[in-house]
Amino acid sequence: MATVRLDQKRHALVRAVPDSYPEALARFFGSGPTDIATARAQHQAYRQALLDNGVEVTVLPADHAYPDCIFVEDQAVVIDGHVLLPVPGHPSRVGEQPPVADFLVRQLHGGRLCRMDGEARMDGGDLLRLGNLFFVGRSTRTNDAGIEELRLLLDHLGYELRVVDIPENALHLTSISSTPTDTDLFIPEGYLTPEDFGPLPEGCTVHVMPAEEVYGCSTIGLPTGRVIVAEGYPTVLATVEAMGLEPLVLDMSEIRAGDGSLTCCSIFYSTPGQNESE
Ligand code: GLY
Repeated sequence: MATVRLDQKRHALVRAVPDSYPEALARFFGSGPTDIATARAQHQAYRQALLDNGVEVTVLPADHAYPDCIFVEDQAVVIDGHVLLPVPGHPSRVGEQPPVADFLVRQLHGGRLCRMDGEARMDGGDLLRLGNLFFVGRSTRTNDAGIEELRLLLDHLGYELRVVDIPENALHLTSISSTPTDTDLFIPEGYLTPEDFGPLPEGCTVHVMPAEEVYGCSTIGLPTGRVIVAEGYPTVLATVEAMGLEPLVLDMSEIRAGDGSLTCCSIFYSTPGQNESE
């Protein structure tokens, strides 16, 4: 049975749903959230699923001035205990970053801290890891200057980075793909192709899902070996089961309505000394 990198998933930083969440940017999966009570209940269930599966969860308070602030994944990248603070690709989201950055810098003070500046733009949701191979989406939120700054960090850490062009009808790389294990990649037909990712290491498998299950392609592999999947995507669910992994199905309808996928709601990290693979 394939496993997830335990060292990436000791902790998750999440952020509570703000009162302003109905104003969240929504251009792709949804036309905007409408039911904030349901959004909060779904977010609570998501947090509980992480807790129940070996992940220590920290919840930052919401900032009601930032409707998208629950989507913390975009605000910082943590790789093996090193932190990259991108300049978020949408101007309305830049002000979400300081409390996320402050928290991570406190937790991960032993690692390298890199801050993007100048013309560089990147949302953390454009970074995908498959074992020791990294992919970055070139998207409406992540530009070439941002990719080059990310590459500097990954070069320093000795990792390969490949660029994947994100189609116009999608937001981020992790909105439409995921690596539920270190050797499995889920992508949606009509959005991405296996060739977009180049030759993968031996033992890796690309699972191409039907286009109508594009939202379901975002999954989260957990330290227990279970995989969180969004409700309503039967091929994704059946694929996880066929891989010998136990799916944990969550209703994400009001998170999806704000263009948020499963991964958007967390930053996973481990604290110094917990990186087993180093
Ligand atoms: N609503 C998430 C985003 O557009 O960034």
